[in-house]
Amino acid sequence: MEKFDKGAIDAELAQGFPLKHRWHNRFHLEMPFGLINDPNGLTYHDGAYHIFYQWNPLGCEHKNKCWAHVKTRDFVHYTLPELALWPDDVHDKDGCYSGCGLSQDGKLRVLYTCNRKEDGVRIPAQRFGTLQDDGSVRKEEIIIPDHPEGITGHFRDPFLFERRGHRYLVIGAQREENETGTVLVYEEREDGWHNRGEVHTRLGDFGYMWECPNLLQFGSYDVLVFCPQGLAAREYDRQNIYQAGYIAGHLSLDSMDMMQHTKFQELDRGFDFYAPQVFEHEGRHLLLGWMGMPDKDDDYPSKEHGWMYSLTLPRELRLRQGHIYARPARELRDLRIQESAVEVDKTEAAGFSQPLFEGSESLMELELGEAKRVEVVLRYGLEKLAFRYDREQQVMTIDREGMKRGGRGQRQFKLFVDQSLSLQLFVDKTAVEAFFQHGEEVASLLVFPEKNIQPELEITADAPLASITGKIWELDSFK
Ligand code: FRU
Repeated sequence: MEKFDKGAIDAELAQGFPLKHRWHNRFHLEMPFGLINDPNGLTYHDGAYHIFYQWNPLGCEHKNKCWAHVKTRDFVHYTLPELALWPDDVHDKDGCYSGCGLSQDGKLRVLYTCNRKEDGVRIPAQRFGTLQDDGSVRKEEIIIPDHPEGITGHFRDPFLFERRGHRYLVIGAQREENETGTVLVYEEREDGWHNRGEVHTRLGDFGYMWECPNLLQFGSYDVLVFCPQGLAAREYDRQNIYQAGYIAGHLSLDSMDMMQHTKFQELDRGFDFYAPQVFEHEGRHLLLGWMGMPDKDDDYPSKEHGWMYSLTLPRELRLRQGHIYARPARELRDLRIQESAVEVDKTEAAGFSQPLFEGSESLMELELGEAKRVEVVLRYGLEKLAFRYDREQQVMTIDREGMKRGGRGQRQFKLFVDQSLSLQLFVDKTAVEAFFQHGEEVASLLVFPEKNIQPELEITADAPLASITGKIWELDSFK
């Protein structure tokens, strides 16, 4: 049998649904077997959102990279995933790496990086393909056969954007001279794609490689999303091994300058978030990220059960004063099946506690009153995940020390809260997504509780809170 037999793999996939292992999520995209990573080819086409993602169907290692494909009209009902693109020729024999998608002349096309190594030397090619009726991508023209001069073999993850009727790409890259990360722009002309050089930023030496760029437009602003590797951790940011973030400014396609850009800001403050990609459709910006992290596979115990990682929920982005706010896509409200209201006028010294459903969304406003420190905990029997806010320091701490498996440690970031702390929590079987202060900050993380029990939501503080109001919903599974 061929290594990547679409018929056999799709049949095995179909058998794997509904997902069976107790750590599998109910409303996060994931696979019954193999390792998934970056969302790819996000495209609205023919009345549906198409989501592709990196997938190794043959094991839980970062190799054999294929693209899997699902579609959805509403982010609640999904088609069963299928194998769409796999390494089977000389150009992409070492993996069909990340890329983007587009709807063109009634067809769904993708553009991806063909990963190829010869004697340890990388020869990355950027190639188009078209989704066929049988669910596979037909491989077509190679538009950039190798990395350009001055750039190493780390040259990948093309993302297409349009300005004034012209098509451009941003591609993640590494400079040869000093092995630092950058992003190149290519412009389509009648005779092909031309290298317009680097996007000039004020970031300078900012890590050794930038992966997965997206160039987005929010009104008159351009936002360059990218994933720099090799930045040192700081007290309140860059705490993961690799980052996913953005700068907002104005990109001049004449000078290639990103003018008046903001500082680099992270898109997510959790432990497990990387390589996001954004749909731009009907004025909305919908982001999906990979809930995982490169080079940390040993931290994720679902590996022992033959599958790894999820994608985040879709998040709608807004840019306000140079900062991206992210809210869960409104379609997700259709997952709500049972509602309970929370209204506590003044908390007792013992605080507040409520059992959660198997999948839940909690939307809470905490009026802090005299409290200086407040802690929101997801308690799984003897294990716990804590969100601790220190009002004097204005620091939010996410603490996973209380979980035995799945990576311990803390993440800390600055968050300004005056009187009221707002928290929206999506708690799936292992995936937790927290939205703070109406999407000013977001955190994605995975927890792997030892026991198959539903968590309790507990809120305690160093002084009674003035009030807690909100709602908790049971959420349905994806259908
Ligand atoms: C990011 C990344 C991309 C690459 C893909 C391979 O996680 O390393 O740069 O295209 O994953 O799976």
